[in-house]
Amino acid sequence: MDKIEVTGGHCLKGEVAISGAKNAALPILASALLTDGPCVMDNVPDLMDVRTTMDLLGHLGAKVSRDKTTVTVDASGVNEPEAPYELVRKMRASVLVLGPLTARLGRARVSLPGGCAIGARPIDLHLKGLEAMGAKVLLDKGYVNVIAQRLVGAEIYLDIPTVTGTENLMMAAALAKGTTVLRNAAREPEITALADTLNAMGAQVSGAGTPVIEIIGREKLHAANATIIPDRIEAATFMAAAAITNGDVLVRGAKSAHMGAVIEKMVEAGVVVDEVPEGLRVRGPATLQSVDVKTAPFPGFATDMQAQFMVMMCLASGRSTITETIFENRFIHVSELTRLGADISIVRNSAVIKGVASLKAAPVMASDLRASACLVLAGLVAQGSTLINRVYHIDRGYESIEKKLSGLGAQIRRIR
Ligand code: EPZ
Repeated sequence: MDKIEVTGGHCLKGEVAISGAKNAALPILASALLTDGPCVMDNVPDLMDVRTTMDLLGHLGAKVSRDKTTVTVDASGVNEPEAPYELVRKMRASVLVLGPLTARLGRARVSLPGGCAIGARPIDLHLKGLEAMGAKVLLDKGYVNVIAQRLVGAEIYLDIPTVTGTENLMMAAALAKGTTVLRNAAREPEITALADTLNAMGAQVSGAGTPVIEIIGREKLHAANATIIPDRIEAATFMAAAAITNGDVLVRGAKSAHMGAVIEKMVEAGVVVDEVPEGLRVRGPATLQSVDVKTAPFPGFATDMQAQFMVMMCLASGRSTITETIFENRFIHVSELTRLGADISIVRNSAVIKGVASLKAAPVMASDLRASACLVLAGLVAQGSTLINRVYHIDRGYESIEKKLSGLGAQIRRIR
């Protein structure tokens, strides 16, 4: 198991290029299942989760290939409706084939994704939406079976603005008979990116980015090309790295429109964020101000940035409260940060952070994708060398993070 060793005390300076967004690439790759020709996707990040998705699409009968950052998926030969446990357990986002497979083949059999470190993460809203469109859903032996001769458009209200739930149902509705309206839909930039791709395939999706999305079903969709948007969470993670190291970094490709409340909260904490043609220039202050944050669906403060922002607050001057409203167990990084000398106490779904003068290196354990990123950030400012175990979590969502941070002057290395 690889480890990452980070030695603190270096201000980050220079520029870093942001890769394509993991959470846009996964649904867009799955959407190729709706078409019968080669779809060419550009700017696809080379991440564990992307590789798993490519393996899954191959298992389903698609021809998949990668040439640098371009991935081609030809789903004309797709005939297998089953996504097996050994692939789904590696990546919950495999559930994103459920909608397209049901729409394309009239049936799908996907292993129920297990829970994960941050919560139970049920898919009941995905299934409720498919049933509203006329599908039969049966759960057996850990698999969910969905059967529908032809999905029929429906009015669907989502109790929670689920991101992959919205994506699954958009893809299913694209080939349904009639019109589907999704209410209380997720508004993340990745939803809009998927809608743009579906429309390029000949679908009729409108309202993406707002809480009401209308999809007029078509008989068939044709192959299309797509360019994956930059990863707003990777970008915000590097912004936080500049913020805590009193650095000055150009985050190339970062788009303020994709950041939701993250920029406002960083500016409140004393970070200088300038919009420049290439992206965002971020300068960290000598001392960060304490700021209260509550995670929320886009355009609120992204839950995927909660752990990274917490590191900033560990060294801020005063007390801050971070409330996690999306996942029920997304404070696993708190005990690891405490090992580094942070002063954090948890009260129900809020963490109260008292700023300390410094953090001290210690061996720590990554537990989920964004918690691992937060431990790398903490290592950048902790006195001494921090050893992070189980970094396979980080490889799922960050493309060569140690190379990108070294390029900014960090002292960081991967120990195989
Ligand atoms: C997506 O997960 C992202 N993953 C997550 O990013 C992100 O944290 C999350 O959205 C929230 O923004 C991908 O896009 C691949 P949800 P998703 O469905 O779609 C509950 C990362 O770090 N819920 O919006 O699984 C659920 O339990 C990952 O890249 C139901 O109850 O999240 C959670 O509490 C981590 N029933 C809340 O809704 C359902 O049917 C939001 O979940 C679906 C969700």
